[in-house]
Amino acid sequence: MELYNLKHPAERVNFAEAVRRGLGQDQGLFFPTEIPRLNLDDAFWQGDFVHRAQRVLGAWLNDELGEETVNALVRDAFNFPLPLVPVEANQHCLELFHGPTLAFKDFGARFLARTLSLVAQDAPMTILTATSGDTGAAVADAFYGLPNIQVVVLYPDGGISELQEKLFCTLGGNVHTLKVSGSFDDCQGMVKAAFSDAPLKAQFGLTSANSINIARLLAQTVYYFEALAQLPAEQRQQAVFAVPSGNFGNLTAGLLAKAMGAPIRRFVAATNSNDTVPRYLKSGQWQPGPVHATLSNAMDVTSPNNWPRVEALFAHEGWPLAELAGERVSEAETQARLKAMHQVGYLSEPHAAVASEALVRQLEPGEVGVFLGTAHPAKFQGAVEAVLTLTLPLPPALAAVQEKAVLSEALPAEAEALKAMLRARL
Ligand SMILES: Cc1ncc(COP(=O)(O)O)c(C=O)c1O
Repeated sequence: MELYNLKHPAERVNFAEAVRRGLGQDQGLFFPTEIPRLNLDDAFWQGDFVHRAQRVLGAWLNDELGEETVNALVRDAFNFPLPLVPVEANQHCLELFHGPTLAFKDFGARFLARTLSLVAQDAPMTILTATSGDTGAAVADAFYGLPNIQVVVLYPDGGISELQEKLFCTLGGNVHTLKVSGSFDDCQGMVKAAFSDAPLKAQFGLTSANSINIARLLAQTVYYFEALAQLPAEQRQQAVFAVPSGNFGNLTAGLLAKAMGAPIRRFVAATNSNDTVPRYLKSGQWQPGPVHATLSNAMDVTSPNNWPRVEALFAHEGWPLAELAGERVSEAETQARLKAMHQVGYLSEPHAAVASEALVRQLEPGEVGVFLGTAHPAKFQGAVEAVLTLTLPLPPALAAVQEKAVLSEALPAEAEALKAMLRARL
């Protein structure tokens, strides 16, 4: 597989190097030079999830890593179910939260951890990432205890739920967590600054594990095919996907799946009131405003880092950007949607509710809607309990960490503070 840097198209790397480096020169995102087209025969749709995922990821990676290696990586990484659950007459939720940390990030993080240890060539490595909630838990879980790898996770103080914090800030060992007095965008800025410091990057073998890493993105393409496989065959050509979006990694993965041949009719990019993209799609003006705190706080992002890839994909495929719908969903609408789903017997959480509401607005006759369920409702226990006035039982993975002590270190929102921390601790 060959990739190029979107900022410096002459910079070309193979998959292993793109995974190790995360970002190219000047923090340019890596993007594939070619997108493989899949042969979606009956055997593809009739096989099981692991078999399908092997076909999808094999199309990208078999030439570089070998079919047996890719098959083993896939089998090992994706060992949990992902049911497509009917919610209402024409809406289904693709539940991506049945992995070890109860969020869709488990797909990308588990595949990345396994790929990275495969391509690391025994060099010591530091995974440096910012999280708005779920990435931290998924990355920490996926890399915890791996030899030769340190993990450093930044998160905004007060910007994630208490349970999310417990899930990844109580591990210790090779996992270092930093509570930053700033926003998620500040955390992303600090990570970027560390990556652009070449000596620092070389000294600690810095690499990213957030959705800018191409391995995570490729891993996420598999579940779009899975949703289609679980739909009745006669509905497979009518699917519209609503994607709850913050950094737009999930949407990028869906678009890659479509470019590979997944018969997806169209996508709806659903955001909360941090609506840089829906406004841009309507006005053509890119105007990120200040960050608003919302119930769907993992999507409180106004400068989405994967957006250049979305535009590159539309250009690569010759699709007009006007084909992408954008919907901004307010807090009141999110709450009303959560209640409406609960009334028909489906318990959800704010991120998925944003996407579900976008589908309600967008779905046309003859279409079938799928929204992504990106996190288990219990991960947003406080918000869900307050909106629905009920008590949520904790699933075992969360109950187990509830009593543990948070081990995070506090840090001001300054790039230099992060660099000093790395030098002192690693
Ligand atoms: C629960 C949840 N939903 C949706 C998103 C948005 O995904 P993306 O950043 O890929 O757009 C996130 C991102 O962290 C998330 O944690």
